[in-house]
Amino acid sequence: MSEPRFVLAVDQGTTSTRAMVLDHAGEVVASHQLEHEQVLPRAGWVEHDPMEIWRNTRIAIGAALTAADTSAAHVAALGITNQRETTVVWDRRTGEPVCNAIVWQDTRTQRVVEELAAEPGPDGEPLGVDRFREVCGLPLATYFAGPKLRWVLDNVPGVRERAEAGDLLFGTVDSWLVWQLTGGPAGGVHVTDVTNASRTMLMDLRTLAWDPDTCATLGIPVSMLPTIRSSSEVYGEVKVDSVLTGVPVAAALGDQHAATLGQACFTPGAAKNTYGTGNFLLLNTGATPVDSQNGLLTTLGWKLGEAEPVYALEGSIAVTGSLVQWLRDNLGLIRTAAEVEELARSVEDNGGAYFVPAFSGLFAPYWRPDARGALVGLTRYVTKGHLARAVLEATAFQTRDVVEAMLADAAASGLEVSELRVDGGMTVNDLLMQIQADLLGVPVVRPRTGETTALGAAYAAGLAVGFWGSTQEIADHWQEGSRWEPELDEERRAAEIRRWSRAVERSLDWVE
Ligand code: G3P
Repeated sequence: MSEPRFVLAVDQGTTSTRAMVLDHAGEVVASHQLEHEQVLPRAGWVEHDPMEIWRNTRIAIGAALTAADTSAAHVAALGITNQRETTVVWDRRTGEPVCNAIVWQDTRTQRVVEELAAEPGPDGEPLGVDRFREVCGLPLATYFAGPKLRWVLDNVPGVRERAEAGDLLFGTVDSWLVWQLTGGPAGGVHVTDVTNASRTMLMDLRTLAWDPDTCATLGIPVSMLPTIRSSSEVYGEVKVDSVLTGVPVAAALGDQHAATLGQACFTPGAAKNTYGTGNFLLLNTGATPVDSQNGLLTTLGWKLGEAEPVYALEGSIAVTGSLVQWLRDNLGLIRTAAEVEELARSVEDNGGAYFVPAFSGLFAPYWRPDARGALVGLTRYVTKGHLARAVLEATAFQTRDVVEAMLADAAASGLEVSELRVDGGMTVNDLLMQIQADLLGVPVVRPRTGETTALGAAYAAGLAVGFWGSTQEIADHWQEGSRWEPELDEERRAAEIRRWSRAVERSLDWVE
């Protein structure tokens, strides 16, 4: 039989599922993408149907293989990368989810989170949002999977009893898909990788095992949690009756971690920012976890097989690209997302308008679930062009807040951030990239290949089966595409940042 020529990556994201066939040079040979429904039952709630995601995954895999004119025999391995934190609970015997997946953006757990933060410590004072941070690297927030799982156990009738009886399984989307692909109710493997586990609040960052104390405090039976594995190893073979039968499932990692790998951020101090529905900035901090003093998350970069884990600091921003969608879908100011650049270019500047898109509260570095969106500085002079500009700037300002926090944390641990590697849909927007470099004061660099997330999953899978030999081989694939140097003078930059910070204060002050 001939040598396998391809690796298949599945990127299961917040709005769509993509399957991509990649060759040995890391080039995308073919891909197929399907959107899924965003279920919005109430203000603040965001759900996905796990069955629709599983169906779309199978269809996308089949269509990508057909488009590449290839078959399972030529595929060395399958790697999965996924939207993180999104929580699925299902029946191990039937494979039926007990309810829709609760998506990372969903804020229904605000009460759970507040109650856990308000519990008194030994000195009688509230334990606060950082009560678990030392163990898991995360503040208590609606964003993470642990509180979402607690909500399902408390609120979906019968679930706690069934979970305690051992009938139910929990997983983030990686677990759900690996379990389904490797046989589902007929012996599917129930695993997750360290990166996805690091987003639950339930894993001890240093031991890379579930922390029994945190699980007990949250009321979560450890028996329903998946086994934590590395991000790059063979978990099992595709068993479900599909076009990929027999192919090793050899990688799982959260999409932001995959993008960091795909951007070849292998050395401590290397950072990437992905511009998706939200923005996610990750900085490689090397072999030891760095505790953030500035509102960032301590997380795993990846763990490749038996190698030592690589840690990262992350700044997560909930709303960036989705603000452009909001401008299109809720206000109708543009017809396509791409039109925002043209509209923003029709004016010289923001006309005094600043937009803080705190639709899911504010994530890093503020961590304020009670923040609400604010559009300030309006005068009669302001046009839709200025609004479009303020929308783009909102992404760049929020990124700048995170980079500032990152620089402070990095400096404390002796790291320097000299440039920002970028990827994701919004990076095609040249105006935004220039604004970004101007506000950051460091160069912004986009690689030639934009598909960094899928590449990261493919690389992790390919490394596990020897399709690629080393991370050096992968780093050699990375090539610079475009670069934006900072151009704005210091005084203007400082004034803009000052006005943005005042707008953020308004957004933090809104809820009574
Ligand atoms: O933490 C959430 C993140 O993983 C979602 O990414 O690109 O699917 O919106 P994306």
